[in-house]
Amino acid sequence: MSEPIETSFHAPRLASGAPQPEARHAPPPRYNFIGGHNDPAIIPGDALAEAAARVIRRQAPSLAMYHLGQGRLGYPPLREFVARKLAARGVTGLSADDIMITSGSGQSIDLVNQLFVGPGDTVLIEEFSYSGAIVRARSAGARVIGMPLDSGGLRIDALERCLADLASRGVTPKYIYTIPTVQNPTGSILPLDRRRALIALSHRYGVPIFEDECYADLTVAPDAPPALHALAPRQIIHIGSFSKSLAPALRLGYATADWSVLGRMSSLKGDGGTGALDQMVAAEFLGERFEAHVGRLRTALRAKLDTMIDSLEREFGASIEVWRPEGGIFVWMRLAGDTDVRSLLAPAAAAGLVFNAGPDWACDPESAKSWLRLCFALPDERTIRDGVATFAQVCFEQTGSPRRGDNRDRAET
Ligand SMILES: Cc1ncc(COP(=O)(O)O)c(C=O)c1O
Repeated sequence: MSEPIETSFHAPRLASGAPQPEARHAPPPRYNFIGGHNDPAIIPGDALAEAAARVIRRQAPSLAMYHLGQGRLGYPPLREFVARKLAARGVTGLSADDIMITSGSGQSIDLVNQLFVGPGDTVLIEEFSYSGAIVRARSAGARVIGMPLDSGGLRIDALERCLADLASRGVTPKYIYTIPTVQNPTGSILPLDRRRALIALSHRYGVPIFEDECYADLTVAPDAPPALHALAPRQIIHIGSFSKSLAPALRLGYATADWSVLGRMSSLKGDGGTGALDQMVAAEFLGERFEAHVGRLRTALRAKLDTMIDSLEREFGASIEVWRPEGGIFVWMRLAGDTDVRSLLAPAAAAGLVFNAGPDWACDPESAKSWLRLCFALPDERTIRDGVATFAQVCFEQTGSPRRGDNRDRAET
């Protein structure tokens, strides 16, 4: 075993703000409800293998060159595919040269922060949001202000008040980060009238919108409003991902924005290029099969969501508040009373179950202390049912609630 880093040879030379070493990788828990994993049963193994064999045979010589010798924006057939996919979100008129492929959409979040944010700058983020977006903005030195949400997503009245208040103090935020189409973690879809109002506010106050469409392929209903980028291309920096529609282990995301931004993001992306095999295989597979694949995935996720909601109702009854998502892979819920979900992490882990504590998904952690997020994409339906029952039992043992569940009194068992 290696010694703790604090007493290591290296410790005195670490940069200030260096993180603690992460915990060593442990075997996956039995009930894994954390992170944004995908459904293993839907990964198209054979089709990916065939696509890989075909494209490698055809393109192998280009692997000899950085960026496959085809420029820093990424593999052209994948960019062409993204342009077509965005057209289905209402974003028309884009060519492959308006798209940049990134190593996961998380890389785009890094690049946007590098480009826009310096110490002391202000950014606006939905009050509950993707932890990676909150953490990255803070690491760039931003002061993060949380914008209230309701079941329709970002509350435009609150945003307007905040922008006016900041303007009165001479502060212009660097961006408004929003996940309008299947919000993470709440699962809401921003209606069209709010999209238009958001764009009007962005225009009035001169604040770019940073639109993250990570989950837009996974809506329950087929008719989500158009992407913000479709409504105001110049104001919007738009990013998306193949992590949720295909596979997160393939590190593939994309960005589109006015060239004054995208061209600079490309200048900053000094990683020698996103993994070429990932790009080539995805383009080869997705070009022909995206719709069919995503259709299967949506059906599977819908069944898992129903199982998750049924299980929560059966085990927790009315003791919890659950936001039924309009797509995606998460359920966002609040436990009874004043429970601090962080106190449940260790007992849950001891029972073989992991979940994401709400405070990590909130601009103001205390405001989400009784909230938590469950990802239902990875476990099969039986594991979801058993996992929710296990979680309810842990909650009862630690907090006394839910006392009743699955037609029995837990205090009597
Ligand atoms: C809203 C949102 N944006 C971006 C990401 C980053 O995803 P990736 O880097 O895998 O594309 C995630 C991951 O879960 C997410 O939830």
